[in-house]
Amino acid sequence: MGSVVAGRLADELPGAEVAVVEPSADRRAALGRDPRLRVRESYRPEPGDTVVLAIPPAALDGFAAGLPVEAFRSATVVSVMAGVRLAALAARLGTPHVLRAMPNLAAEAGQSMTLLCPGPGARPEDLERAERVLSAIGAYLVVPDESLLDAGTALVGSGPALVAYLAKAFADFAVEAGFGPADALRMTCQVLRGTADLLAAGDGGPERLYRRAATPGGTTERGISCLADHRVQDALHEALARTAARSRELAG
Ligand SMILES: NC(=O)c1ccc[n+]([C@@H]2O[C@H](COP(=O)([O-])OP(=O)(O)OC[C@H]3O[C@@H](n4cnc5c(N)ncnc54)[C@H](OP(=O)(O)O)[C@@H]3O)[C@@H](O)[C@H]2O)c1
Repeated sequence: MGSVVAGRLADELPGAEVAVVEPSADRRAALGRDPRLRVRESYRPEPGDTVVLAIPPAALDGFAAGLPVEAFRSATVVSVMAGVRLAALAARLGTPHVLRAMPNLAAEAGQSMTLLCPGPGARPEDLERAERVLSAIGAYLVVPDESLLDAGTALVGSGPALVAYLAKAFADFAVEAGFGPADALRMTCQVLRGTADLLAAGDGGPERLYRRAATPGGTTERGISCLADHRVQDALHEALARTAARSRELAG
C-alpha cells in the first residue's frame, strides 16, 4: 500500500518531494529504480512532512522505538494501518497530529474509496494535508466518528476482495459458456463499471435498479429469485459483519 501511495503521489502531485522509508535492502533497490522517489532506510524528519504510515500494525512499536526524539513535532501523520486506534497512534508516536485512513487496493488504479478520520488533536492543516495526499489515490470521505471505521474497513478496505470473489463467478460462467478468458474478464469488468456508474447517477439505489431490470417473467427475474432462494444478501451481510468484527478484534 505504501509503494502504491508513493507512486500515485509522484504521478498526481509532480511538485511534491516523495520519500519512501523501507527497511528491506531488496525493496529499496527496487523502489530506487523509480527516479521520482527518494528512498531511505530510516525516517529522517523534515519540517512540514506529511507521513503516510503503511507498515503492518505489528511493526508499529519497533518503528516508533527507532524514531528520533520528537520526530513528528511538525509533521502530519496519516496511518493506513487497519485496526490501530487514534489514541494508540498518538501515544506511540508522541504527537496529537494524527489521522487514520482506510484506503483499498483500487488505489493502484487511482480509484480507492478511502475513509479518513482525524484525531481529536489534528489541526485544520493536518486534515488539508491528508486530503491532498489521499486525493492522489482516489476518492475520500471524512468520517468524524472513529467507531465507524470498523464497519468502513469491512466495506471499503475489504470491499474489492469481496466484489472480486463475486466477479469470479461471472467470469467463470462466461468461460464455461465458451468465451475466452480475456473476453470473460472484459465483460465482467464492464458490467461492474456500468452498474457502479448507473448507481452513482441513479435516483433509487441498488434495490430499485435490480427490480427495474427484473421484468416479470423475464430472464433477470429468474436469476434474482435464485439469489434470493440462496439468501445471498444475508450471506454478504454476515461476511461484512464478520469482517468488521475482525477489525474491532485487531484494535483490541
Ligand atoms: N493491502 C491493502 O489492501 C490495505 C488496505 C488498507 C490498509 N492496509 C494497511 O496498510 C498496511 C500495509 O499493508 P500492506 O498490504 O501494504 O503490507 P506489506 O505489503 O507487508 O507492506 C508493509 C511494508 O511495511 C514495511 N515495514 C515493516 N516494518 C517496518 C518498519 N519498522 N519501518 C518501516 N517500514 C516497515 C515492510 O517492509 P519489509 O518488506 O522490509 O518488511 C513493507 O514494505 C497495513 O497496516 C494494512 O493494515 C492495507
